[in-house]
Amino acid sequence: MMKTPYISHRASTALTGEVRIPGDKSMSHRSLMFGLLAKGRTTVTGLLEGEDVMDTAEAVRKLGGKVEKDKENDIWNVDGIGLDKLQSPSSDLQMGNSGTSTRLLMGLIAGHNITARMIGDASLSKRPMNRVIVPLEQMGAKFESTEGGRLPLNIFGSNALKPISYKLPVASAQVKSAILLAGLNAEGTTTVIETKPTRDHTENMLRHFGAQVDVEDLDDGAQAIHIHGKPVLKPCHIDVYADPSSAAFPAVSALLVPGSKVTLHNVGLNERRSGVFSTLIEMGADIQFINERNNSGEPVADIVITGGKPLKGITVPATRVPSMIDEFPILSMAAACAEGTTYMSGLEELRVKESDRLKMVADGLKACGVDLIEGEDSLTIHGTGTPPKGGAFIETALDHRIAMSFLILGLATQEPVSIDDVAPVATSFPNFITMMADLGANMHPLDQNKGCTDSAGNACCV
Ligand code: S3P
Repeated sequence: MMKTPYISHRASTALTGEVRIPGDKSMSHRSLMFGLLAKGRTTVTGLLEGEDVMDTAEAVRKLGGKVEKDKENDIWNVDGIGLDKLQSPSSDLQMGNSGTSTRLLMGLIAGHNITARMIGDASLSKRPMNRVIVPLEQMGAKFESTEGGRLPLNIFGSNALKPISYKLPVASAQVKSAILLAGLNAEGTTTVIETKPTRDHTENMLRHFGAQVDVEDLDDGAQAIHIHGKPVLKPCHIDVYADPSSAAFPAVSALLVPGSKVTLHNVGLNERRSGVFSTLIEMGADIQFINERNNSGEPVADIVITGGKPLKGITVPATRVPSMIDEFPILSMAAACAEGTTYMSGLEELRVKESDRLKMVADGLKACGVDLIEGEDSLTIHGTGTPPKGGAFIETALDHRIAMSFLILGLATQEPVSIDDVAPVATSFPNFITMMADLGANMHPLDQNKGCTDSAGNACCV
């Protein structure tokens, strides 16, 4: 695949404006998958139209559902076929870059009498799938995977899986969800025990579709999630709110460019997702939540971010990690511009995301002149209170959040920051570049010969 290098320059003016961030990726995937399992038409507004979710949509079609956008009304229609009615796809399921599509669909397919083969891009093909294969095999499904439990893999499902009780060895909503989805078509009650609370969109949305999901509080803050198998799911309407993980990028950009004021509309603030905002506020950020309300049972608000207040380094509580697992790359950019030391620990899962995010962030920040220590599962960033020098060319390794994080950093550094490829941004935030440009950011294509270029391909910013 051709790469598209990009460059981002120090903002010459403050960033200002009100924007609508694309829909939440986790909810978008789930709305399509659960829609497939409910017989009849599920309607979805606010769906994220990023590549990852479109890969889920294509998989849902191959499994027997119909997924189409009603462009006139800006609604996605999912015509579901009902639980136990899935068909074996006639060709490979192309999972692209998406771990969520892969792991959730592995669970869903495992609970049906069908077979499927999954493939993915170079990043996804390195990611560990045994964390899902192990519990699903305990339930009775079979897998043939590439060495080390990787993609490509074959799934041999069964509609007579054995319900299990499984304690998650890693804090992962994807693993939890895969088991719950397999349990959905098993006779009896399947239980997942999590010791650290991970995002609960599967539990909330399955209830909305009519499934019985009970949560039991155990000792030491652990929870048991019980799903009762073989329900009749009812089609429904899902309104997807703006993705807090995507919102974190323009939010941090506003914090790093003095004089900025940016409003982000209708952002999901489920407490299992919003740790990044609590952390930035502890660092001294001016972040206000207005119009706080409820959207389909989940809290949302408009967020007003005002830049220019000095940020200070803090210790991020390790217990907060699952609620901001995807936000450490962008938080690290804020930490690099803050005064003092930011210490982040409990980050072992960052090593198995779309890239080894701990290493990618540490290497990229070091190249930008930041003083830091990369631990096995921790990152210590020593900020000076002024943005780092910058001037580096960053490898992004097919990781959308690494690409966006360093482009945001370039808005504050003394010298521009460039990245090798902006294309992966389309997996989760297809209009990132245009939205940032609307706010006043200076991000442009980087041509090997001409350097920074404008939209007409002419050299600029020299
Ligand atoms: C997700 C769960 C998280 C997160 C991912 C989306 C989900 O992954 O990083 O972007 O929608 O369930 P893990 O379950 O691997 O922590």
